[in-house]
Amino acid sequence: MTMNEAMGVPATVIKIGGSTLGAQDTSLQDIVELHREGLRPVVVHGGGAMISDWLKRLDIESHFVDGLRSTSAPAMEVVLGVLRGVVNTQLVSEIIALGGRAVGLSGVDGAIVRGEQYDERLGLVGRITEANADILTSLLDAGVIPVIAPIALEAPHSEQQAGTPGRAQALNINADTMAGEIARALNAAQLIFLTDVDGLMDGAGAVVESLGAEQAERLRAEGVLSGGMIPKIDACFRAAEVGVAAFIANGTQPHTVHRLVSGERIGTRIEA
Ligand SMILES: Nc1ncnc2c1ncn2[C@@H]1O[C@H](COP(=O)(O)OP(=O)(O)OP(=O)(O)O)[C@@H](O)[C@H]1O
Ligand SMILES: [Mg+2]
Repeated sequence: MTMNEAMGVPATVIKIGGSTLGAQDTSLQDIVELHREGLRPVVVHGGGAMISDWLKRLDIESHFVDGLRSTSAPAMEVVLGVLRGVVNTQLVSEIIALGGRAVGLSGVDGAIVRGEQYDERLGLVGRITEANADILTSLLDAGVIPVIAPIALEAPHSEQQAGTPGRAQALNINADTMAGEIARALNAAQLIFLTDVDGLMDGAGAVVESLGAEQAERLRAEGVLSGGMIPKIDACFRAAEVGVAAFIANGTQPHTVHRLVSGERIGTRIEA
């Protein structure tokens, strides 16, 4: 497919879990190959485990409020350094080494994603208020794979406020939430969560092949849906609501992205 033919193709958002980073999997290889064949991939990454490790190493206190890590100003510096610096740069370098073209950015760049503080007790953790995919579309049109770190911009936005000097703060955003909102803003064809398990598992430990809203609520109420799976499922339904096909699959297995994009039924598919 030529680049011009690829311009009308909707995007595919792929969230690479921090849980699978550094694992020698084929996800990036798949992404580069599929991009060459005309897929328009947008990569969003996590990195929670590396942030925890650096906070410990630097002896910066961080505590949890209702299961969410609060982010103080010093902790935010670590979040920025690790996500936008270490993890993002690593992914961009690897894609380029595999022969792809990638550009690294966060939601702050070009104000792609804006947010507001979630709860005072959580510090600089943000909720997304707005996502604008124009820059991502331009990058895709130019044959570039955008690689996005989950950070949003908290800044004045209205006409009156714009131009007045004030707060401009980066906010820590859950990577799954970020991927879901970007998929929505892009009107993506697909949203793929690559993680370290085969999909959403039911109470008996079997992968749920097709997940509807009712079963999701039941699994949540039963406590089967917990931890890192919660923001993923929420993001899947947010995206599925506007027609995005959403999947959760095991990124550590060979050619998971390839198989999903070719329509193979692996992992969990979310049905809105
Ligand atoms: N019902 C469930 N089915 C499958 N996994 C579940 C379920 N409930 C909770 N989990 C947990 O969710 C984890 C995946 O989410 P997690 O946040 O740890 O990884 P990630 O999102 O891929 O990586 P990161 O958060 O670093 O970006 C699984 O390893 C599993 O422990
Ligand atoms: Mg997670």
